[in-house]
Amino acid sequence: MSEESWTVLKLLQWTTDYFQRNNVPEPRSSAEVLLAHVLAEDRLFLYLNYDRPMETNELAAYRACIKRRLGGEPNQYITGLQEFWSLPLRLSPDVLIPRPETEVLVEAVLEFLDKADPNVDILDLGTGSGAIAIALARELPAARIVATDLSMAALQLAQENAKLHHVDERILFIRGDMFAAIPGASQKFKVVVTNPPYISHAEISELPREIRDFEPHHALEGGPDGLAAIRHIIAEAPTVLCQAGALFMEMGADQTESVSALVIDSQRYENYRIIKDYSSLDRVLMAIKAE
Ligand SMILES: C[S@@+](CC[C@H](N)C(=O)[O-])C[C@H]1O[C@@H](n2cnc3c(N)ncnc32)[C@H](O)[C@@H]1O
Repeated sequence: MSEESWTVLKLLQWTTDYFQRNNVPEPRSSAEVLLAHVLAEDRLFLYLNYDRPMETNELAAYRACIKRRLGGEPNQYITGLQEFWSLPLRLSPDVLIPRPETEVLVEAVLEFLDKADPNVDILDLGTGSGAIAIALARELPAARIVATDLSMAALQLAQENAKLHHVDERILFIRGDMFAAIPGASQKFKVVVTNPPYISHAEISELPREIRDFEPHHALEGGPDGLAAIRHIIAEAPTVLCQAGALFMEMGADQTESVSALVIDSQRYENYRIIKDYSSLDRVLMAIKAE
């Protein structure tokens, strides 16, 4: 990028071409997201201001973003932002980037819960950026939510996000290892919702560079077979679920057989079903606790 006179449009065209030649996915939208971030505006502003000249300091900041993107860093870590459930969330490399398919989890919980019950208690295990807990708190104004994580950095960010969306007073953030974070919480929750790490150790090295080299492995890896956290959650969730409470858990599309077997073998659930995501892939386990 030379020091000629750049406008928004010229810069977008140049970057799109540069990203394309360097195999950066979705080159035009990636360029737009980064330029809007540098200008502290939204993408619509770019369309309405194609002829706007760029300042030297803006060019320098944009150049730094392009360099990071070219190195494989996801846009969301560069901009520090991602939308989930139409809510802008702050992000850092300490947390997983919330995925659209995780919204299926939120939808399934909302469908299950009787919205007329104002006193529902929900446990979000492994909250990361707080995406699931915050979306549920926004949809269920009287719900009380406990959100846990092993990572202190994740919990701090989740708490910031909860404040941003005015639900921090109804979400209790607790650091700890799975259910050990909430000792004495027997049969308290109507819903346990979780998007646990479920990728096997071997599969981690096969992930796209953007995920493998930038997203936190403790948020992704579920042990040698990808089922370590899943196994533990299926076994232990009934101890904290109230009568007729339910476990909602995200899983890998290829884990249906193993997950179903774990649910059946536990003999702790009276029925279960697997819910598909927007790509028609198996994605969410819903299992109702047995009496
Ligand atoms: C796949 S990420 C999900 C994050 C967020 N819920 C979402 O859907 O975007 C899994 C989360 O579980 C947390 N985690 C991993 N192992 C844990 C454990 N043993 N106890 C509590 N949290 C754990 C990770 O730190 C990470 O934030």
